[in-house]
Amino acid sequence: MIKKCLFPAAGYGTRFLPATKAMPKEMLPILTKPLIQYGVEEAKDAGCDIMAIVTGRGKRAIEDHFDISYELEYQIKGTSKEDLLNQIRELVDSCTFTYTRQKQMKGLGDAIYKGRALIGDSSAFAVILADDLCINPEGDNVLKQMVKVYERYRCSIVAIMEVDKRDTNRYGIISAKEIEKDIYRVTDMVEKPEISKAPSNLAIIGRYILTPDIFEIIKDTKPGKNGEVQITDALLKQAKEGRVVAYKFSGLRFDCGNVDGFVEATNYLYNNNIS
Ligand code: G1P
Repeated sequence: MIKKCLFPAAGYGTRFLPATKAMPKEMLPILTKPLIQYGVEEAKDAGCDIMAIVTGRGKRAIEDHFDISYELEYQIKGTSKEDLLNQIRELVDSCTFTYTRQKQMKGLGDAIYKGRALIGDSSAFAVILADDLCINPEGDNVLKQMVKVYERYRCSIVAIMEVDKRDTNRYGIISAKEIEKDIYRVTDMVEKPEISKAPSNLAIIGRYILTPDIFEIIKDTKPGKNGEVQITDALLKQAKEGRVVAYKFSGLRFDCGNVDGFVEATNYLYNNNIS
């Protein structure tokens, strides 16, 4: 049902300098897998087979990663290492990867808009922010859970979690009415509010399902917080019409956009033998 997943991947990753000077932050590995591969695997497992990646300058390693590496495959064929490449080869063969570039950093809303040419206007699509690594050891992955919610509500879906009130200024924060267990109808949302003005402690994390009318809305959305076009502001327009549902997902989310979260994710996956 949701076949396409958009990955905004144009950001600089300044929190990881100097590691990200010449390497895309999406290629930083958690154990042996680059961050973006976790996202692509999640999307595939949730039913997507078209991965639309919005990149920027200096991000070519992402394209090479989701391609065949003939030399490498030739070199390790028949050795004990062959298996290591088989998994990614299978992933690469089973999905179509499309790319476009966001030439200037103008915000997440703008990055998503840049993906319009890859996604089209005909159906709802998923968005994964690869920085947010989500794991659900006990069942469906987070995007798959959201697809199930989408199938029932047929409107835009945002994944949310409760955060410490002091951290509300790091997220899009929603106001909402719980309509059933873990499912909310969003009435208001604000991007990175001042802590004293946060309407709740329900924070949006980097998983979205968006209905395609969002593109026309983004087009008309003025730059907001930090002078950037925010997806939160565009979604607010849909929310005002009762067309955004928030879903409190089951599982864990690691903020791999900062060093602490990155190390936490690494330790968790290592200690639990997940990769
Ligand atoms: C983005 C969104 C924000 C959301 C967050 C989740 O912010 O703008 O609404 O809460 O992702 O990770 P960023 O972390 O890219 O600044």
